[in-house]
Amino acid sequence: MTTNMQILLASRPSGWVQESDFEMVKTPLPQAGPGQMLIRIHWLSLDPYMRGRMSSAKSYAKSVDIGEVMVGGAVGEVVASSGGKFAVGEFVVGPLGWQQYAVSNGEGLVRVDPDLVPLSAYLGVAGMPGATAWTGLLEHCRPRAGETVVVSAASGAVGSIVGQLAKMQGCRAVGIAGGKAKCDYTVQELGFDACVDYQAGRLYEDLRAACPDGIDCYFENVGGTVMDNVLRLLNPFSRIALCGMISDYNSVEPYGITNLRSLLVNRVRLQGFIVTDRLDLYARAVQQLAGWVAQGRLRYRETVAEGLENAPKAFIGMLKGANLGKQLVRVA
Ligand SMILES: NC(=O)c1ccc[n+]([C@@H]2O[C@H](COP(=O)([O-])OP(=O)(O)OC[C@H]3O[C@@H](n4cnc5c(N)ncnc54)[C@H](OP(=O)(O)O)[C@@H]3O)[C@@H](O)[C@H]2O)c1
Repeated sequence: MTTNMQILLASRPSGWVQESDFEMVKTPLPQAGPGQMLIRIHWLSLDPYMRGRMSSAKSYAKSVDIGEVMVGGAVGEVVASSGGKFAVGEFVVGPLGWQQYAVSNGEGLVRVDPDLVPLSAYLGVAGMPGATAWTGLLEHCRPRAGETVVVSAASGAVGSIVGQLAKMQGCRAVGIAGGKAKCDYTVQELGFDACVDYQAGRLYEDLRAACPDGIDCYFENVGGTVMDNVLRLLNPFSRIALCGMISDYNSVEPYGITNLRSLLVNRVRLQGFIVTDRLDLYARAVQQLAGWVAQGRLRYRETVAEGLENAPKAFIGMLKGANLGKQLVRVA
């Protein structure tokens, strides 16, 4: 191999992302300098936060520059090392970007064990999305047995784990997802108690029926009308882990929530969080999640795009709900 394929940010989208906002380039295969490693990427993760990095709006992390390789978590194998932190043949996960090969000094990389769980799982259930579910639910929502936990984007990478963790805590787990097939998956395969299809047009009524005792914990992935309807069903002293608001990521005008008064009258505790704020919990979360996967206690699904060239299309598809479970790209 003498060339590297990379996907760069070509333009900043306004509204929906287009495939033309990305550019695929072929560059010479990079070499590992002193203290560096050359890593061959096997799996690339596609995540909603990348939409934010394509924008120049102020956020919690730096934007990708025009002409820069798109940011992204990936799992790869060390194929050459010049005194680098990891040995040739070891597998690592970290911010390696949308490309076939990356040179790294090891910063931000963590060694992973391909014998414990499949490599791709380190980008999903046993990776950043899993740690997000774990931190948001167990640290911020802190549900007690018998309480009702609701999670939106319930069949996705984060939401599918939230519901299963809620069941492990002895809670009633209720999902909200787009379409019957996704709802059936959360109930029949993941063990949620109920799931409401927000696209069916009766969100408030269906959610009220699915949560006869109201809502004690809400794990928010979506925002918009979904959040507005959930707010109407919150119990006094309920908790919201505000993880994401994907319904707004491609909007020019953000949705205006109308039921905020519920937060006041119900004395709700709402905590916005970013998983990397709690690096003290991250390794423990991932270790526990990987163990539960290995024991068969946690289930997960993946939607796989074949080849790096298909990453832009798959990314846009994921933002529109085409994925079931974790959206990945098989690069190698
Ligand atoms: N705070 C953090 O540290 C952190 C870390 C990771 C992820 N997140 C956030 O967590 C959320 C889920 O991320 P993920 O990686 O697990 O993605 P995901 O759920 O696997 O995929 C995104 C899903 O969002 C749903 N969606 C898209 N547009 C929607 C809309 N207008 N209304 C309702 N649902 C919509 C779609 O599912 P449906 O077909 O069901 O609509 C889609 O499949 C995102 O908001 C993301 O930004 C936050």
